Amino acid sequence: MKLANQVAIVTGAGRNIGEDISKLLAAHGATVAVVDLDKARGDKVAADIVASGGRAKGFVCDVGKEADIEAVVKAVMDEWGHIDIMVNNAAISDNKHMFDITLDEWNRVLAITLTAPFLFGKHVGKAMVSKGTKGKIVNVSSTSGYYGRNRAVAYTAAKGGVRNLTKSMAIQLAPHNIRVNAVVPNKIGSPVGKSEFDPSRKVVNLRDRPGLPIDLANAVLFLVSDESDFIVGTDLFVDGGVTTLMPGNE
Ligand SMILES: NC(=O)c1ccc[n+]([C@@H]2O[C@H](COP(=O)([O-])OP(=O)(O)OC[C@H]3O[C@@H](n4cnc5c(N)ncnc54)[C@H](O)[C@@H]3O)[C@@H](O)[C@H]2O)c1
Repeated sequence: MKLANQVAIVTGAGRNIGEDISKLLAAHGATVAVVDLDKARGDKVAADIVASGGRAKGFVCDVGKEADIEAVVKAVMDEWGHIDIMVNNAAISDNKHMFDITLDEWNRVLAITLTAPFLFGKHVGKAMVSKGTKGKIVNVSSTSGYYGRNRAVAYTAAKGGVRNLTKSMAIQLAPHNIRVNAVVPNKIGSPVGKSEFDPSRKVVNLRDRPGLPIDLANAVLFLVSDESDFIVGTDLFVDGGVTTLMPGNE
């Protein structure tokens, strides 16, 4: 069990990518705090993990609120005494044109998608330092952080921020023996904000198939395991190779 005796927090863990990350980390021995805004979803994932012999508990948290984040970090420390792994997975997309998005909508997307990874990094990082923990933090980024999109503006700005936040976090936490990295997915399972998998969703990549949540979970497992001990501040693309293609070139 490569993650035995380790405690992990996974945000947005109630379905899709976060669900598979939680279940895979638990299958490798981690105790998982399944954090989601939706209590029923988080509790279900935690119950599934416990039913299959793992350790997990659901925590309700709006990652867009610092008070909620501090409360979850405290609750996890009170419950299990240390935090070894932090996976910042929760995000929402605006799916809007810049003429249509309101300032409140913009701020909400940034709060959940960009500010939350910073705040979890800050509060969990402090908890890790207080216990001398060899910590691992993974931010779930997106290919939308590398390219503009017609159908989203706040989400692409936020994910672009996650890209560079990861590097500063990696530098600032490295002296504390905390490794920070990011995974960069493209079209994994169902679209952000939706639970239904749409097999007809247009997918262009070098694998000729949609990504699956387990594809991303496997990458996260690698980045929180000792096998990746020399990997710091990197963006690990889990995109079927789509970002290697130049549009229009045969
Ligand atoms: N699905 C994709 O194709 C894709 C592509 C690129 C990047 N990503 C990234 O992967 C991550 C997961 O995506 P997904 O498709 O699994 O998302 P999803 O929308 O299916 O699930 C997100 C989960 O986060 C929870 N959540 C939403 N707002 C929250 C809040 N304020 N506080 C706590 N929990 C909240 C939701 O209840 C839900 O359970 C995100 O960071 C997303 O940007 C996904």
